[in-house]
Amino acid sequence: MPTRKSSKPAAKPNGTHAPLTDSLGNTILIGDCRLVLPTLPQVQQSQVDLVFADPPFNWNRDYDQWKDDMPREDYLTFTYDWIDLCARALKPTGSMVINIPDDTAAEIVCYLKGALARKPAHQMHMVNWCIWHYRFGQNRNGSFINSKVHVLYFCRDPLRRTWNPTQVLEPSDRATTYGDKRTLSKRDGMPPGMRVPMDVWYGPFWGRIQGNNKERKAEHDNQLPEVYLERVVRCASNPGDIVLDPFTGSGTTAVIARNLGRTFLGSEFSADNARRAFQRMLDGPTRPLGTSINASSSIVKTRKALVIPKIKI
Ligand SMILES: C[S@@+](CC[C@H](N)C(=O)[O-])C[C@H]1O[C@@H](n2cnc3c(N)ncnc32)[C@H](O)[C@@H]1O
Repeated sequence: MPTRKSSKPAAKPNGTHAPLTDSLGNTILIGDCRLVLPTLPQVQQSQVDLVFADPPFNWNRDYDQWKDDMPREDYLTFTYDWIDLCARALKPTGSMVINIPDDTAAEIVCYLKGALARKPAHQMHMVNWCIWHYRFGQNRNGSFINSKVHVLYFCRDPLRRTWNPTQVLEPSDRATTYGDKRTLSKRDGMPPGMRVPMDVWYGPFWGRIQGNNKERKAEHDNQLPEVYLERVVRCASNPGDIVLDPFTGSGTTAVIARNLGRTFLGSEFSADNARRAFQRMLDGPTRPLGTSINASSSIVKTRKALVIPKIKI
């Protein structure tokens, strides 16, 4: 594979900002992740257990300071640079999970698979290509309404990766919907009636954080649901582990990681976002952790269905 040019990191946003750190070592650095993350010893020494990244999508969104409208080639170079940086930061048992829409999912998968051939020391393996499905996509009628984001789950070593399935189980449809007693005597080592979630993620608490959603934080319209990060952090890291998020945003990864006893390291380009995320991390999650992670995702009948007038076709 040919070598490529690296991207040019953006200058610090409006001056110099000290890192935000609590007494446990949970830290948010302010600045371009490509500049600030390499200053961390845990990154230099490949001590990170889990990377979760929800980058800017280059959709010209208002991220306070970050300009979200790069030429496509520059955006791809930026993407590959932060991925390289994060892959190098991982331990051999570590994993990387990337939240990315249709536009760039294929490029990232190809890049990570290509990186396998190019840099054996930092090779990554795909564990799952999951989908986060939500019902309230932006309305449109010129094409199908978008209702998903890709959740790309890669690891350094498939035989050694940290994987805690029993931390993220949900009731099986056999138990909740079909009354199938066979699910009560399972032979796969999982508790009766419970299963590892499927690779399409949806259900109660999994909607986009919009409007008057209880979880919504002021000044953010790109927040992920807490249950999403709870699933990722629980299944792919252990208490005491280091969780890194290069694009902290409103602090969803930070609040979940810290409150599950992990050490959070993050970067955020906007100083205002970083301060709010830090406060959110200290304040704690919207619902006590453990209360929504095991909810059933079975597609059940609506109890009070509306009567919809028949259409002519
Ligand atoms: C999609 S949002 C992340 C949302 C986050 N997952 C949450 O649940 O709140 C992306 C964030 O990355 C920040 N950002 C963009 N480019 C960055 C860069 N190069 N380095 C650090 N942060 C960056 C933006 O300011 C924005 O807050």
